[in-house]
Amino acid sequence: MRPRIYITRPVGREAVEMLAALCEVTWREQDVAIPPDELAEALRDMDGLMLAGARLPAEVVARAPRLRGVSSVGVGYDNLDLAACTARRIPVTNTVGVVEETTADLAFALLLGAARRLPECDRYVREGHWRFWQWGLLWGADVHGKTLGLYGFGNIGQAVARRARGFDMRILYCTRHRAPETIEQALGSQHVDRDTLFTESDFISLHVPLTSETRHSVGASELARMKPTAYLINTARGPVVDEEALAEALERRVIAGAALDVFEQEPHVHPTLLSLPNVVLAPHVGSGTTETRARMARVAAQNLLDLLDGKRPKTLLNPEVFDHAAGDAAGPR
Ligand code: 8YV
Repeated sequence: MRPRIYITRPVGREAVEMLAALCEVTWREQDVAIPPDELAEALRDMDGLMLAGARLPAEVVARAPRLRGVSSVGVGYDNLDLAACTARRIPVTNTVGVVEETTADLAFALLLGAARRLPECDRYVREGHWRFWQWGLLWGADVHGKTLGLYGFGNIGQAVARRARGFDMRILYCTRHRAPETIEQALGSQHVDRDTLFTESDFISLHVPLTSETRHSVGASELARMKPTAYLINTARGPVVDEEALAEALERRVIAGAALDVFEQEPHVHPTLLSLPNVVLAPHVGSGTTETRARMARVAAQNLLDLLDGKRPKTLLNPEVFDHAAGDAAGPR
């Protein structure tokens, strides 16, 4: 019998065709997050899941008795209960290596957009306020030659550093584990502690995963340490920032501005942020380009085919499921 697969979003024909060649595929037509109960219902007799823009909590894993492979479409995996999958020996993959450059493009676009007040400029022209040239009109901040602080220095943080080099920026980064010297040198970047990062940077861009340690790791005290001329850019995960504290800091001009692609309670945005001119807002579109979304879907489809075929995909999030298999006849389910 062909394996049965469920896809949580209409991810496109190419990925569906790849899967349909070998499996029975069902996908959700609506491009909105599937509620957990509906997902549990859909997974009752499914062997594989392609999880795009949806949550997979432990309760849903528990209600999917046949599930033997989860392919998550995206790099961050705070939306799924990895421990629950591992406990059931269900291998889980992500699309690491696909979204990083595109997300770095957006982080840099947001940085430039906030510094040069692009949404305000756009509104000014569209709304017919531009009657004559003015010396003092919509001044922003220089980006070139400034200090960029990267909070997190994984694939996306490093991709942002590569872009910043073209702008002659001084690049600081803060991570728990220092990057190899070869990477530091290649990217002209310097490892610093959190305090130095927050006090010395003109732009701080967040690139840490969301974990219990990073949740609200940028709050009132970090914002207070930033320069009043500094900007905060978040393309990582909303809850890394205490949104209430950020809204207050922006309103009181504790910092100059912010640019956000992610929020604490998406799609809800703090009402103060919606009303402030010094924050650029985007609806979680970091990986949203034609090329990258197509590639994410293809890679995720291939990962799922590999998982169902018992092959070990490169982007396995819980390798212990396979490592276990070596000495355990049961192996991955
Ligand atoms: C996805 C993302 O849009 O890769 C990530 O971590 O945040 C985005 O690329 C999101 O995961 C939805 O699938």
